[in-house]
Formats: sequence, structure tokens, C-alpha cells
Amino acid sequence: MAFAQLSAIVALALGAAQVAKAAPPPKVTCADGNVTANAVCCQLFPVVANLQQNLFDGAQCGEEAHSALRLSFHDAIGFSLTRKGGGADGSILVFNATEEAFHANIGIDEITADQFPVFQTTNLSAGDFVHLAAAVGTANCPGAPQLDFFFGRAPPLGPAADLTVPEPTDNVTAILARFADAGFAPDEVVALLSSHTVAAADEIDTTIPGTPFDTTPFTFDTQFFVETLLVGTLFPGNGSQAGEVLSPIPGEMRLFSDSVLARDPRTACMWQEMINDQTRMQTLFKAAMHKLELLGQPDTLVDCSDVVPVPAPFTGSAVFPATFNMSDIQQACDTVPFPTLETLPGPETSVPPVPGS
Ligand code: HEM
Ligand SMILES: *[C@@H]1O[C@H](CO)[C@@H](O)[C@H](O)[C@H]1NC(C)=O
Ligand SMILES: *[C@@H]1O[C@H](CO)[C@@H](O)[C@H](O)[C@H]1NC(C)=O
Ligand SMILES: *[C@@H]1O[C@H](CO)[C@@H](O)[C@H](O)[C@H]1NC(C)=O
Ligand SMILES: *[C@@H]1O[C@H](CO)[C@@H](O)[C@H](O)[C@H]1NC(C)=O
Ligand SMILES: *[C@@H]1O[C@H](CO)[C@@H](O)[C@H](O)[C@H]1NC(C)=O
Repeated sequence: MAFAQLSAIVALALGAAQVAKAAPPPKVTCADGNVTANAVCCQLFPVVANLQQNLFDGAQCGEEAHSALRLSFHDAIGFSLTRKGGGADGSILVFNATEEAFHANIGIDEITADQFPVFQTTNLSAGDFVHLAAAVGTANCPGAPQLDFFFGRAPPLGPAADLTVPEPTDNVTAILARFADAGFAPDEVVALLSSHTVAAADEIDTTIPGTPFDTTPFTFDTQFFVETLLVGTLFPGNGSQAGEVLSPIPGEMRLFSDSVLARDPRTACMWQEMINDQTRMQTLFKAAMHKLELLGQPDTLVDCSDVVPVPAPFTGSAVFPATFNMSDIQQACDTVPFPTLETLPGPETSVPPVPGS
């Protein structure tokens, strides 16, 4: 009896010790009053404020936020499992003259030109700067997940190799092979392409700069996955618009690569499953971006994710744009029913371009 009581008390004490062990690490209060998991992260709060003010026009999900996210991808995907060097090291910012000459980096010079002077006012390495800017810019888009940010990258040693960034004219086999060479499975490729929900093209057709990839380029919603499945028309010929598919929505552009990924047996079901599942998209995008920002980096980086602002939520639903319905969808996943969506009321509307910087 006494022994049973004693062992019960010991068990309770052990339980309490385990709870204490499992509890999150104590937080640090910085000199400016901000609270974070690690004292080394304190210096990032002023950088976040600097980015919001001097790069993102006061915390907007505009052109610079979109381009900062694209830049983080073009920087990190220089990584290869089969070759040394490259990765999320900020080489695209420091060795911009070399990397901007790569065909797939067309238009990237605009965001590096915007970032460079801000970068120089910080104490960060180029890799930390590029990937913090992407996390902060994305946080300005309602519906986005709060992306992780890991701190402490060394300065880049040299430019990335050419031909590591996928092209919009690439076929699915080529795209999946390049991503596999960087360590990403097809489902993760689809997850990363959630980014194209806050995106527009300046360079595919230079006569119509700022042409968005969905009707809501300032919201991190799942509309992109719906609208890429509407019946479109392959742009004929190989001219300046190579890589473009005509969207049936006036003012919207669809990349050839997005169009074929939406319809390929290797990616179509994941693509469709993103539709109207905001939480799933957020979770999978966040996980894939976590992997992306650590490509080629040592595991000694410090988790400073709590310096990244918490994005506003998206509380709406995915919809068919006005005048469209299920009859306009090219369903390519035959194992899962297409979600039921409402059609926005009213006449057909045109999506305006994203204003440039
Ligand atoms: C198959 C892979 C991909 C291809 C072929 C591709 C291609 C493109 C192209 C051609 C543009 C338009 C550039 C312009 O004309 O201005 C673009 C924009 C963009 N991409 Fe991708 N992309 C891919 C994957 C990704 C990934 C993985 C991310 C981020 C995680 C990303 C983020 C963006 C963003 C945010 C924009 C909009 C930039 C802006 O509006 O300024 N892309 N992409
Ligand atoms: C936290 O950091 C931000 C950005 O530097 C600053 O504006 C704010 O005053 C700081 N303090 C608190 C308590 O949030
Ligand atoms: C490119 O990098 C150099 C420093 O290496 C910098 O002076 C310049 O402003 C950058 N330009 C662009 C367009 O990023
Ligand atoms: C600047 O960066 C160095 C190296 O990361 C760090 O030791 C130092 O504390 C930083 N200084 C400021 C003012 O944040
Ligand atoms: C896909 O693209 C690669 C590289 O350009 C090419 O070798 C291959 O033949 C293409 N495959 C198909 C099915 O078109
Ligand atoms: C879609 O709309 C068209 C034209 O308004 C209509 O004829 C068709 O029956 C609708 N299809 C569905 C599946 O609602």
C-alpha cells in the first residue's frame, strides 16, 4: 500500500518532469521589448521593420513582396544533390551580374536592384537577407502561412550554376527531374507552386507587364489552382509569348509549365486537392519553403521564425470566377471528386495588372 502510494507519487513527479522537458524553450525579451526564442534573433526585429518600410511599401503584398518570394526560389534552387555549391546562400544578390545573365532569371534584376541598397543598411549575410525578405514579404499576403526563418548563413562563395532554375517552357518530366535533383518530390513541387497565387509576369509578354496568374494576386488563396484548370488555349508559335497559355479570363496569364503540371498524372491530384483547402495548402507550402530556405545550408542555423510577422487570415472560399462553372474545368485527377464551388455573381470581369515598382 505504502509502496503503491510512493510509486504513484514518483510516477507523478516523473510525469511533471517530462511535461517540463516537453515545454517550449524559455523566451528571451529583447532590449526593444520584442520576445523571441533566441537572443541572437533580437537583431532581426529592426531588419523586419526596415524591410516593411523600405522594400515593401509599408507591409504590402505588392510587386516587391511577390518578387522577393520569386527571388528566394531562384537563389535556393541553385542547389543540386549531385554537385557541390549553390543553395539558399544569397548568391543571386551578391553575384547578380553572373546570375542575371541566366535566361531563367529574366526580370530578377528589378528585385535585386530594389533589395541591394536595403541589404547594405543591414548587418545580415546576403543569404539571410534574401530569405528573411521572402518570409516577411509573403507574410504581407493575407492567407499565407507564417513562413519559418533560419538565421546565420555564411556569405556566398560564388554564383550558382546556370540551368538550375526551371523555365516556363519546360515539360513536366524536365521540371520534376530538376526538382528531384534538388531533393523535392512531385507533391512538394505542387506545394511550392502555391507561390504563383501571389504572382504576375512582366517578361513573358513584355507588352502586358504585371499580368497576374490568378484573379487574386494580393491574396494567398487557392484560386490559382482553380483557374489554371479552366480550359485554355496554347499560345501558338514560339515567339515572345513562348511559355504562355491563354487563360480564358481576360487579363490573366497562365504559364505553360503551370498548365501542364495541373494536368499531368504525376501532379494533377495534388494540384486539385489544394483547391479550397486553405489549411492544407498553407501547411504544405510552409514545409516545402522550410526545406527550400535550408538548401545547401548547415544545420547550425538558428530558428528565428518568430521574428516573421503573422499573416492576416484568408476567410473566404475558392470560387469559379463570374460566368465560369464546372463545365469549364479540365479535371485531370480521376481518383478524387472535384470540390463543389460557387460561381461569383455578375458578368465576366477582367483582372487588372499588378502595378510595378
Ligand atoms: C516549375 C517551376 C517554376 C517556373 C517554370 C516558374 C516560372 C515563373 C515565371 C516565368 C514567372 C514570371 C516572371 C516574369 O515574367 O516576370 C514567375 C513568377 C513568379 N514565380 Fe515562379 N516559377 C516556378 C516556380 C516557382 C516557385 C517554386 C516559386 C516560389 C516558391 C515561385 C515564385 C514566383 C513568384 C512569387 C512570381 C511572381 C513574381 C512577381 O510577380 O514579381 N515560382 N515564375
Ligand atoms: C519590436 O520590433 C519592432 C521592429 O523593430 C518595433 O517596431 C517594436 O517597437 C518592437 N517592440 C515591441 C514591443 O514590439
Ligand atoms: C549587383 O551587385 C552589386 C555588388 O556586387 C551592386 O553594387 C549592384 O547594385 C547590384 N545590382 C543589381 C541590379 O542587383
Ligand atoms: C552583426 O553581425 C555579427 C555577426 O553575425 C554579430 O556578431 C553582431 O552582433 C551584429 N551586430 C548587430 C548590431 O546586430
Ligand atoms: C521534355 O523536355 C526534355 C528536355 O528539354 C526533352 O529531352 C524531352 O524529350 C521532353 N519530353 C517530352 C515528352 O516532350
Ligand atoms: C455552366 O454554365 C453553362 C452556361 O451558363 C450551362 O449551360 C451549364 O449547364 C453549366 N454547367 C454546370 C455544370 O453548372
